[in-house]
Amino acid sequence: MAKRPEKIPSKLNKFVVIGLGLIGASVAKAAREKNLAAEVIGLSRRSSTLELALENGVIDRAEKHLNHIAPELGSGDLVLIGVPTLAVPAVLKDCYKMLPESVTLTDVASVKGSIVESARNIYGNIPHQLVPGHPIAGSEKSGVDAALSNLFEGHRVILTPTEETARNHFDRVIALWEGVGAAVSCMDVTRHDEILAATSHLPHLLAFSLVDTLAARSDYQEIIKFAAGGFRDFTRIAASDPIMWRDIALANKTAILGILDDVMSDLNALRNAVRDANEAYLLDAFNQAQEARQRHEKQLKRHKVISGQTDSEYRYHVNPGGHARAELEIPGDKSISHRSVMLGSLANGLTEVTGFLEGEDSLATLRAFRDLGVIIEGPAQGRLAIHGVGLDGLKPASEPLRLGNSGTSIRLLSGILAGQKFDSILEGDASLLKRPMERIAEPLIKMGAAVSTSESMTPPISVTGGQQLNAIDYVMPVASAQVKSCILLAGLFAKGVTRIHEPSPTRDHTERMLRGFGYKVQTNGQTISLEGGAHLTASRVDVPGDISSAAFFMVAAAIMPESDIVMKNIGVNDTRFGIITILRQMGTRIDLSNCREMAGEPVADIRVRHDSLVGIDVPMEQVPLAIDEFPAIFIAASCATGVTRVTGASELRVKESDRISAMADGLNILGIRALPTDDGIEITGGKIGSGEVDSRGDHRVAMAFIIAALRSTGPIIVNDCENIATSFPNFAQLAGVIGLDIARGEIS
Ligand code: S3P
Repeated sequence: MAKRPEKIPSKLNKFVVIGLGLIGASVAKAAREKNLAAEVIGLSRRSSTLELALENGVIDRAEKHLNHIAPELGSGDLVLIGVPTLAVPAVLKDCYKMLPESVTLTDVASVKGSIVESARNIYGNIPHQLVPGHPIAGSEKSGVDAALSNLFEGHRVILTPTEETARNHFDRVIALWEGVGAAVSCMDVTRHDEILAATSHLPHLLAFSLVDTLAARSDYQEIIKFAAGGFRDFTRIAASDPIMWRDIALANKTAILGILDDVMSDLNALRNAVRDANEAYLLDAFNQAQEARQRHEKQLKRHKVISGQTDSEYRYHVNPGGHARAELEIPGDKSISHRSVMLGSLANGLTEVTGFLEGEDSLATLRAFRDLGVIIEGPAQGRLAIHGVGLDGLKPASEPLRLGNSGTSIRLLSGILAGQKFDSILEGDASLLKRPMERIAEPLIKMGAAVSTSESMTPPISVTGGQQLNAIDYVMPVASAQVKSCILLAGLFAKGVTRIHEPSPTRDHTERMLRGFGYKVQTNGQTISLEGGAHLTASRVDVPGDISSAAFFMVAAAIMPESDIVMKNIGVNDTRFGIITILRQMGTRIDLSNCREMAGEPVADIRVRHDSLVGIDVPMEQVPLAIDEFPAIFIAASCATGVTRVTGASELRVKESDRISAMADGLNILGIRALPTDDGIEITGGKIGSGEVDSRGDHRVAMAFIIAALRSTGPIIVNDCENIATSFPNFAQLAGVIGLDIARGEIS
């Protein structure tokens, strides 16, 4: 795009809208209401439209022909072409004849390739002043009387500037759309047309076609009487303007034909599956679609397009106080949920899971195994039915496996995929892309795997399949259950006995669950070994409540006088027991009852009550046993008398965020003295004040600061809390149950 330095005045002089349909009239009305132009002029061939536009306050002035106003136009004026797609070339011809180069020209047509092409034909090249645009907003209603001045608020507008588009014209169009509340994205013309063919043009064609097919039946009147919500939802857009859609279908022919061919072949396969009663095909297709639709729903909700809106939407505002007296049901253990899907998929037979955590991390694992060809039913109220494919039954995924925020998914899956015959790529969100992967790549490569990471030893990870893995004897440099599990899972595919020595005990869910699936695993002190080449037999997994989630409410009870919190059915595996040991050492009353075993894991009901809290030096051997609970423990330390010191915890720096730094910064903002060290922190208990803290997108940091409000002297605002859903989707609701006054979004 040519660059021309010019300061763009935010207010337009004359804003001319040619064609007062829904979009043209709405943008005119919005520009007028927001005072974005000295004068808003509407052009239409129909007098009745112009009269209505004037009457409804859509425009300041009405004109029938461009030649009436063209002589008045120059720099600082903007002409927007709002006529149907196939009528744009005729308007462009008028513009070519009448408008000087200084006038900015844009359009709103849903297809961009044909517009750019006709501009090239008419002008002999693409004019510098042309900024092709397309607002992704609309309604099935049309015409000037449907105009809405807020139609674009929170919606995206795609601009497709070309090499020739001049900067000043481009900036002017951006200012217009941002002025009416839209968020502007830019992309290449062809890409725009492909994307719109898939997301907009195809659904419209399908809706038109379905209604058309049914309407042609002689019993249409009768069947329509029985149509329910599904029919209404699916066909709402078949009430759209036929002329507009005829134009779009013709103008975006190439991209529409491409996507229509794909859908027709999928429909044909679906038809065959129905004809042949192919249950597996149907279930797989519907599962994939359901899961994709759910993910897409979240994406739509999460990625509000207006910058700034995203932040405030995921900000929690928590008023001080609460009672911390309740019985709470804590969702399923994240670590065990991940492993249930992994081992269930690799086993022979049907594995049933209950209590599965429907958080984004464990769902990322579930999605990955579906992408690898495993049929998984659910989750429905924490239940899964996994149709295991055996150790050699995974199939290559057609796309990179996207593992979101989940370190456990990417590290454990790498071990499994290292032993496959096919290649894989594993990637994740911005936080995951920063996390260290050398710790798994190094032992996997020693086993003979072909695994590579980015230069900084972070994801994406690519695994080249078809390698013969050999067992190794490995001394782990870090105490990490993820590394241990990765190697053990690769060991399933290796020749010989894989042996791992841990520097100190870490969670042993993988070992326990492997045994539950009938696989022999030896544990001898801190050495764990297994021999490759056997098989896993499907089992049942009852996932207990997650002690790492319960920890936030244990700390709530620990810091709140007269508290009493009961949480039943919580996993109390020794390798996760650190939070209980540490809080007890600080003075908290914690009782365990109904201790039992569930699917190879120790489980208990936990009751936590307040007593005076004192600062302690956290014993180093407890660190790996409470590795995820430190953000919560730091809040307990802030409410304790004296100093709490944590050492030997440098692993906290490479979790979903640098938890030492994130917690120290937040605590200091809240008036607590927190001194970070290389491998830990020193916290002096005191009064938690009010303030705005940043969770850095880390779920556990966010939840810890929300709990702190129980004892704060004023409100705490916690930013960037979206990722709470990765491990504890109903956390805010349970926070409300213990009396926290918590609200999401912008509080004025
Ligand atoms: C996990 C192990 C821990 C923990 C993570 C889950 C697991 O990580 O922090 O949340 O499920 O194996 P490390 O083993 O890397 O410490």
